[in-house]
This record gives sequence, structure tokens and C-alpha cells, in this order.
Amino acid sequence: MAEDSPVIAIDGPSSSGKGVITHKLAAHLGFHILDSGALYRLVGLAAKKQGINFDDEAALTDQARTLDVRFEPTRDPEEPLRILLEGADVTLELRTDEAGVDASRVAPLPGVRKGIGELQRSFKQPPGLVADGRDMGTVVFIDAAIKIYLTASVQARAERRYNQLKDKDISVSLHDLFQSIQARDERDMNRKVAPLRPAEDAYVIDSTELDINQVFAQVLSIVNEKLG
Ligand code: DC
Repeated sequence: MAEDSPVIAIDGPSSSGKGVITHKLAAHLGFHILDSGALYRLVGLAAKKQGINFDDEAALTDQARTLDVRFEPTRDPEEPLRILLEGADVTLELRTDEAGVDASRVAPLPGVRKGIGELQRSFKQPPGLVADGRDMGTVVFIDAAIKIYLTASVQARAERRYNQLKDKDISVSLHDLFQSIQARDERDMNRKVAPLRPAEDAYVIDSTELDINQVFAQVLSIVNEKLG
């Protein structure tokens, strides 16, 4: 039963490595994945495609409540899920920084958050779920079996993102990335509804000085201790 399926909440700011850790952990445990950021990105993208203004909360709420989205597993470890909006593959469009910025503009709206609440909770299915976001442990899965908050300095996160983009031959300035990450943190942490913060019972991991394998080892030792 879905009620018996453990949820592992992985929250934290953008570019903190949540996505990679979520996918590695879900693959290791054979659990499902909820990429909640993708849902906010989808609301922003769907709104843009339909010419809905980002100030129009009623229309955005409606959009969020009726999102026609499908997540399909792929065999590509770099992009393990294909995301379909109304049947069309929007995976690459969703990954852009523009989609992230749009998501952080629609995410503070209470109607939007409520609108995708039920969809998010429907991902809790046997044998378990790894849920990646900003408010997984504080709002959506308040009774999660394990809550992890991943963070790192803005500089470290900007450098990681810079290197990821460089590997894909996308040229950006480190300074612009630093500023964009800082602005996104500001919006995510200071909004009135579901602001980004660690749950009181979260394990906080600061990865500024750690590589992804060291972070994963810490996460695994917490999971093994708590889930046995
Ligand atoms: O994790 P991400 O970069 O895909 O998230 C994009 C934006 O969506 C992020 O800036 C804030 C918002 N978001 C949120 O408010 N709550 C979540 N659970 C996940 C994302």
C-alpha cells in the first residue's frame, strides 16, 4: 500500500546536487522519483506556451491543477526521465536556466502550489519514493521517513553549473551564473509560502568541500541506518 511506502525527502537550493543524488539513491534502492522542480518548470512552460501572464494566479492555478504530464524512464543515465507535456517531449526545454527562472516566479503562488499538491503526493507508491525539491520535508511529505537537506556555497554551486554547461559546449559567464543562483536562492528562501529551509528533523549536508561520491556515501549511511 502507498501508505507503507517510505519517502526520502531531498531538499535544498538550486545546483546543490539534489538531482544527481536523488537519481543515484532511487536507482540504488529501486524507488520511484519525484522531481518536483520539474512540475513548477512545467507550469511556467505551459503558461508561456498558452500566453498566460505570470501575474494571473487564477489561470496559473488552473494550469497547475490540470497539468497533462507524463514521466517516462529512459535508459540514459544522464537523462533518466523523459518528460512529456500534452504528449510532446519537453525534457530539454525544461532544463534551461530560463525555465528555472520562470519556475521560481510561479512557485510562490499559493494556488499553484496547492494545484500540484495532489499530483506530487500521487508519486508515493511501493516500494518507496525519493522526492527532490524545496519543500518535500517541510510541507508535501511532512512525515517522510528520512529528510535530507543538501546545500553548498553559492560560489561552489555556480562553479559546478559552469562546468556542467562547459561540458555541453554552452558558454556562459561564471559571474552571471553566480548572480542568477543568488537571485533564485533569495526568491526561494524569502517567499511567504513554503520557503526553502531545512526541516527541523532534516540531516543537513554541506557539500561545498565534498565531491558527489562523498555526498552519496554520507546519504547512504543515513539511509542504511534509518531504513536498515
Ligand atoms: O529544482 P529546480 O531548479 O528544478 O526548481 C525550479 C524552481 O521551482 C525553484 O527555483 C523553486 C521552485 N520549486 C519549488 O518552489 N518547490 C519545489 N518543491 C521544487 C521547486
